[in-house]
Formats: sequence, structure tokens, C-alpha cells
Amino acid sequence: MRMYHSAVKTKSVYVCQQCGHKAIRWLGKCPECNEFNTLAEEISRPEDVVSRPVLGDDKPIPITEVKPLDRPRIQIGIGELDRVLGGGLVIGSVALVGGDPGIGKSTLLLQMCQRVATQGMKVLYASSEESVMQTKLRADRLGVSSPNLYVVSETNLSILKRYLEEMKPGLAVVDSIQMIYRPEIPGAPGTVGQVRECASELTYVAKRHGISLLIVGHVTKDGSIAGPRTLEHIVDAVFYFEGDRFQSFRVLRGVKNRFGSTNEIGIFEMRGAGLAEVANPSEMFMSEDREHRPGSAIVPSLIGSRTLLVEVQALTQPAGENPMTMRKVSGYDANRLAIIIAVIARRLGVPIFKEHVFVNIVGGVVIEEPAADLALAAALVSASRNKACDAMSVMIGEVGLGGEVRGVTQAALRCVEAKRLGFTRAIVPKHNMKGMDAIEGLELVPVSNLREAIDAAGIY
Ligand code: TYD
Ligand code: MG
Repeated sequence: MRMYHSAVKTKSVYVCQQCGHKAIRWLGKCPECNEFNTLAEEISRPEDVVSRPVLGDDKPIPITEVKPLDRPRIQIGIGELDRVLGGGLVIGSVALVGGDPGIGKSTLLLQMCQRVATQGMKVLYASSEESVMQTKLRADRLGVSSPNLYVVSETNLSILKRYLEEMKPGLAVVDSIQMIYRPEIPGAPGTVGQVRECASELTYVAKRHGISLLIVGHVTKDGSIAGPRTLEHIVDAVFYFEGDRFQSFRVLRGVKNRFGSTNEIGIFEMRGAGLAEVANPSEMFMSEDREHRPGSAIVPSLIGSRTLLVEVQALTQPAGENPMTMRKVSGYDANRLAIIIAVIARRLGVPIFKEHVFVNIVGGVVIEEPAADLALAAALVSASRNKACDAMSVMIGEVGLGGEVRGVTQAALRCVEAKRLGFTRAIVPKHNMKGMDAIEGLELVPVSNLREAIDAAGIY
């Protein structure tokens, strides 16, 4: 049964094209996302158009009588993808795949369609940006070919819905939501109103028929195109496909997942014939020729269920008489950086706060755990002193305000990964030494404070 709830009738509303924030009057700056000039007027639509279907069964039933699915998840067969999805794609779930244009979303999803289609499931790849011919060209390049994979080029929502309802594919991809429109609604395709309405209608159809649906959304700063952020609460899961367009590796990251953890990342490499899984991801997050280069330190970091060796890079530049120093950080928490700078100044007497500081985590990964504090501190001191850290050492540890080095989780696991990638020394918190077995070929250097750690890294 279809149920409706209607939105309150209002005359006009101003909606942020970036984050979907609503205001009753026009504002130069969005109070939600702080972007300028992103609010656009949307005239409210007749009630029947605004009404949104709510998924519902006929009547409440005891939970014990709900029939479980025999196969709740589709295993894609691409390990990196299955991992991020939380162990496969949940049947009837709706996910949003966001990312910059040209990053490889269509490529990834077409490869995914192929895997599912070869398992004998019907798959629909609906492109609203490319013609069927263009999709075919890409498919040929990727070696994608299966009679179960259907392609269509369509931008009209009602036609698309009809295809989904008639075909009832196991998996459907809508690439991208920004080009889909519903003619009854005012506004060009890609505006917040269109994107939101189309996505919720498609979600409804998918849930009703048990279709796993993947919706592609481009992330863009351009105010005229709705960012996929407006859709985050409509869908079950949100994934971002990131990476540097000028480099070959890509990271798929979950920012919301009703059926799995959002800690996991999937790492791919863009090759001539599409995206390939990366066998040895740690190598991607370290630059080559690190020896004799100041401002670089390595930490074995826990990302989701896996340990990756990640390089922290720092660059400092004396600010001279200028009291305004710059702090730019990518991939690490800016507040933690400020704390570490203060601790270094106070406990080591290195006046980094007088310098411009730039920090980058190589490879575009984001480190969310404090276990990388020590490597960050070492990179900063190393940069400021212009003295390279010992190239064969990794550093693990959280740094406290007193300059003490605190223990971290899974220290042994991290050390094993360091050993595997050819490092011969690990500077670890003293606290973690208790009960840690010796690792052949890896010298463990226990430290209890920042000074000892910096000394051990050879940059004191
Ligand atoms: P695409 O999947 O079209 O990106 P999106 O859908 O996110 O906009 O990928 C675009 C880039 O990927 C394009 O610059 C070409 C490159 N590419 C490869 O390097 N190898 C390939 O096999 C394919 C299909 C694309
Ligand atoms: Mg595309």
C-alpha cells in the first residue's frame, strides 16, 4: 500500500544548492555550510507533487514473522568494493556514490555491473549523461560484456521508473542523478528540488521491488548544481570516490552505511583497462626516495580493518616578523595539529608556532586516529630542523599535552606490517611493549616521551 504525507504548503523557500539548507528569506551566506551565494529560490509545488511516498507494509506484524531474505547481500567479487560495502551489496538497498567529475565513478560502477551480471542477475545501467553508444565504448574498453547487463540512456524520471518496475533488475545504476528530471517540477535538472524529488522516488521504487540501487552524484562547488549532500539522508549508504585526478590511485570511502562500518576504505588504481584492486596499498601511501628528505615520517595506521603504512609530510617556513602564521593540513585533524605544535614548542623548545606549517598525508588518505601523532610531531620537528628522520624507522604513538607518548591499539599488528614492507625499526610507546612478542628483523625502540622519540628518530 502506498501512503503519503504532505509537506506544508509555503509560498517560496530559499534552498542552499550546496547542502540543502532551507531559509525563509534569501541570505548571502548559507548558515549551514558557510558557502556564499548558494541560496536559490524555490517556489513550492502543488501538494500532490510534494507528497512523498512512504515505504510501508499493510499492517504491523510481529518481528518473528518477518521472512528473512535467503541471500541478503550480493557479493560483487571485487574485494575492495565488498569490503567498503560492509561485506557485499545489501539487496534492496540504495546507495549514493559521490565524487568529482572524471574521478572514475562510471568506470567503477560499470565494472561492478559486469560482476553482478555474470552471476546471472539482471542489471540495468541507466546513463543520463552518456549515450548508449558511449557507454558501449567504455564497456568495450573495460572488457564488460554480458547479456544480463542492460543499458539505457534516459533522463526522464517517470520513464526510468517504468523501466525499473518492468524489468525489476537485481542491481540498477543511475548515472547520474544530476541529469534526471521530473517535468512536473519547476527547475532545471540538477537543482536541489529536482535531485531530491527524483532520488526519493527512485529510492521508493527500489525498496518496493527489492532492487539494489546505486545513484551517482557529482560533487561540485558550482552553486547551480545540487551537491549530493542533500541526498545523504534519503539513501541507506553514501560512498565517496576520491583521489587525485592526475594520479592513478583512487579511494572509495563510506561516509554513511546502514549496513556496515564507515571506517573501511577500498583502494583502486586507474589503469588503461579500468580500475584494478591494489595488491599492496601501503606502497601507495609512501613516496619514493624518502631517504635524506626532511619533514617525512611513516606511521602504520589502522584504517578500518586493515593496517596501512602512511607517510606524514610536513613543511615549515619561517614567518619572519609576520605574526600571522599559516596552518594548512590535509588528511589530519587541524585541532590535533595545533595541539602537537604547542606540545613541541613547550616540551622540546622548538618554536614551530613562529613558522608557517603545511602538513599533508600522502595519497589522500584521512587519518582519524591519534596513533599518528608521534609521526606528525617527528615530521614537524624534522622539517623545522631540516634534518631527515631515520628512513628505516616507523613511529607509533599518541602524544599527550605533557609530551608523554601514550599507548595505541594493535601495536603488534602495526609492527608486523612495518616489517613486511621492509622497515627495520619501530619507535613504539613503552606502554605497548608489555606482552609484545619480538618480531624478527624489526628492532623495537620503546619511548615514553616525545623527546626520547625525536632522539630515536635521529632528529633531536
Ligand atoms: P569516469 O568513470 O568517466 O569518471 P566519472 O564517471 O567519475 O566522471 O572516468 C573518467 C576518467 O577515467 C577519464 O579521464 C579516463 C579514465 N579512464 C581510464 O584511465 N581507464 C579506463 O579504462 C577508463 C574507462 C577511464
Ligand atoms: Mg560518469
